[in-house]
Amino acid sequence: MDFTLSEEQLMIQQAARDFAQSELLPEVIERDNAQRFPKEQIKKMGELGFLGMMVDPEYGGSGLDTISYVLVMEELSKIDASASVVVSVNNSLVCWGLETFGNEVQKKKYLTRLATGEVIGAFCLSEPEAGSDATSQRTTAVDMGDHYILNGTKNWITNGSTAEIYLVIAQTDKEKGHKGINALIVEKGMEGFEIGPKEDKLGIRGSDTHSLNFNDVKVPKENRIGEDGFGFKFAMKTLAGGRIGIAAQALGIAAGAYELAKKYAKERKAFGTEIANHQAIAFKLADMHTQIEAARHLVYKAAWDKDNGSNYDLSGAMAKLYASQVAMETTIEAVQIHGGNGYVKDYHVERLMRDAKITQIYEGTSEIQKIVISRSILRD
Ligand code: CAA
Repeated sequence: MDFTLSEEQLMIQQAARDFAQSELLPEVIERDNAQRFPKEQIKKMGELGFLGMMVDPEYGGSGLDTISYVLVMEELSKIDASASVVVSVNNSLVCWGLETFGNEVQKKKYLTRLATGEVIGAFCLSEPEAGSDATSQRTTAVDMGDHYILNGTKNWITNGSTAEIYLVIAQTDKEKGHKGINALIVEKGMEGFEIGPKEDKLGIRGSDTHSLNFNDVKVPKENRIGEDGFGFKFAMKTLAGGRIGIAAQALGIAAGAYELAKKYAKERKAFGTEIANHQAIAFKLADMHTQIEAARHLVYKAAWDKDNGSNYDLSGAMAKLYASQVAMETTIEAVQIHGGNGYVKDYHVERLMRDAKITQIYEGTSEIQKIVISRSILRD
């Protein structure tokens, strides 16, 4: 088994590390406090090719593999998970969904702009009454022949007000259940499409999360992705890859907190020595390091499965389940190692702890990952 990263992968990892240090770190606390979206930083990431990493260069992407993508996600998330979620949603949910299931016209019209970072996208599945239970879509897309009329509300949408292109999941034929659901491309500015209030969140406060309202929005039929009734499968297949991106985000949050805790433990003195010399602290670091390494193996394996054409529903769900748990546990311990300093903002670890929580919730809660995992292992 070869665990060596290629020269190219190492270069991309270093580029993301440098970018995170020079561009994300300087104002990350201020952005968190002010709930300010990292607009300039996202623009620069588009220029670096981070927003369409796996997209074919024919459509403006970087044409890289999923391993490179998770390396970038990990590095960015060590510093700023509010910025990395934009990278994750744009790459995994929006670009991948369009490139894999969109037609040529849709790819030329939308994917090229998304992959270069000229615009960013949003993935709109969750609703006030359809979160984990994603087949219970209340948003309707009524078939009017050459167009759909879209009505409903979407909740907790990442990039809600900053996106230009929205992939919206809606019910066309209730009788058909999940087979009557469609995925439509909706553009900002379409009549009847309103951006709702911004959410005031515990973590990833720099990310832009809104509800969206659709009031008789006329969406041309050519904006439907795939065949009639493909929308739910589109969402599930797209989310399966998205979960690898979020797993990498969780891994990065954990690794970021661990690095800070280790550095602090080697500097901070108590009882006449650096606290790293106390076994109570050294053992915490040992546990953190081991868990992070285990999470990393799961994340890389899921990415490897995707790159090698293997099924990644199971490996992606396991990676997300475990890495998000490690992110939560590691960040709590990082705060503990920092003591009183961990509880104040200047030391970053309290923010990482708040940011970690969302990785157990979005793109399928931990409980949903266990449904996916248990169904998969019991099928055999
Ligand atoms: N690939 C392909 N098809 C799939 C699939 C997959 N990974 N998972 C399910 N399907 C198909 C099934 O085969 C089935 O089709 P058939 O009837 O033709 O066999 C159909 O989809 C329905 O599947 P289920 O019967 O398994 O449906 P269910 O109601 O039991 O729900 C679920 C399954 C896994 C729980 C699903 O509802 C789910 O994943 N829920 C969580 C939703 C979620 O992750 N939301 C996140 C919101 S997006 C977000 O957070 C983005 C952001 O902004 C950061």
